[in-house]
Amino acid sequence: MAEARSIPLAASELPTSWYNLQADMPHRPPPPLHPGTQQPLQADDLARIFPMNLIEQEMSTERWIGIPEPVLDKLLLCRPTPLRRALDFERALDCPVKIFYKDESVSPPGSHKFNTAVAQAYYNHAFGIKRLATETGAGQWGCSLAAACNFFGLELKVYMVRTSFEQKPFRKLMMQTWGAKCVSSPSQDTQAGRDINARLPGTPGSLGIAISEAVEDALTHEHTRYALGSVLNHVLLHQTVIGLEAQKQLASVGLYPDVVIGCAGGGSNFAGISFPYVRDRIHGKTVRILAAEPAACPTLTRGPYRYDFGDLSGLTPLLAMHTLGHQFMPPSLHAGGLRYHGMAPLVSQLKRDNLIEAEAIPQLECYAAGILWARTEGFIPAPETTHALAAAIREAKRAKAEGRERTILLCYSGHGLFDLAGYDAYLSGQLTNHELPQDEIAAAIAKCPPAPAL
Ligand SMILES: Cc1ncc(COP(=O)(O)O)c(C=O)c1O
Repeated sequence: MAEARSIPLAASELPTSWYNLQADMPHRPPPPLHPGTQQPLQADDLARIFPMNLIEQEMSTERWIGIPEPVLDKLLLCRPTPLRRALDFERALDCPVKIFYKDESVSPPGSHKFNTAVAQAYYNHAFGIKRLATETGAGQWGCSLAAACNFFGLELKVYMVRTSFEQKPFRKLMMQTWGAKCVSSPSQDTQAGRDINARLPGTPGSLGIAISEAVEDALTHEHTRYALGSVLNHVLLHQTVIGLEAQKQLASVGLYPDVVIGCAGGGSNFAGISFPYVRDRIHGKTVRILAAEPAACPTLTRGPYRYDFGDLSGLTPLLAMHTLGHQFMPPSLHAGGLRYHGMAPLVSQLKRDNLIEAEAIPQLECYAAGILWARTEGFIPAPETTHALAAAIREAKRAKAEGRERTILLCYSGHGLFDLAGYDAYLSGQLTNHELPQDEIAAAIAKCPPAPAL
């Protein structure tokens, strides 16, 4: 009989608590700082941007945080997600590896972002907020929050990075279908957007710019708060259902991974698959944990660790993180969700403590991995997800060179059905790798605010 490719998990096994890695980390990240005073941020400082229930979660160090019933109810639309074995991809690689992937592409909008979107919409609604503003890079986060806001009766305005807005018109239409409004960023709707448009006409935009617009929107509209799709502790927390489920699924077939891989933009999908395994590693288990990022936006591998803003205009708190500088303008990669100058403070701290590794991969290698995946496994991956696939191929080749078997677990963070413009560019030979000169990073870092040394 043919070998099973999918390891399901019963609905009754859906995690009922999120896992908070802060309870187990050897060193917690330094506190976020108030952008004006540079003093450690207090809960009240964030009250105009986020609802207090999420601020409390952001600051919590409790190990397990219960998932509210209405959130579980919506997560059950697509969770537990399947864990699949990539048998044909393995055969094509011909290396001594088993490759399992946690399939987050099955959510209604098509990626892992749905996990935190549902939670954030629920908590804002429970706090009496009527409207949210957010940014989106790939469009996956904007779609996820649009779907979730629709469930909980919230209005939503999405600032979508211009280059993605132009590459993926259907993402905007999906957001509209769920009832949200989506504009290209930089827009003319905010002061931050107007300033950038005047200073850099025709700019492709960036997540840093779109965040400035969304935060300004929240600050200037009544009953409105801001929602972020990555980077912050509570966002990473909501994603841990991915790794918690994967642990149960792999255990059900008597396996434990040698390597866990996730692509990293702001760090939430990587955190989702890996934090439960980081916990194991802290407690003595042998497991390698690898973040894959674009060579053209190499935050973890080439960005210094320091305090920096999360957005271009300097409206957000200063976060202790690996950063390429908040003024860094990443090249117009097709992996829009990975075009972010910073990295989650929790992920950055793990890198500092050598609990995780990172690898930067050029986009041509990633697309080649995506094409091989589509032609073996059948599914077309999001350009962001191809970074995890390319990292898995590198890992498989290392296993072959060393003559050692390996079990690889990766997060298949999203499908690429609305990202075909990138595949078109690759298949027609128009895509190139972007070399990032060191002086470009140095120039952007020089524009970081003076802040306490770390
Ligand atoms: C499909 C997909 N994977 C991964 C990412 C990376 O995001 P993060 O690292 O913030 O989870 C994104 C971001 O938009 C995405 O759309």
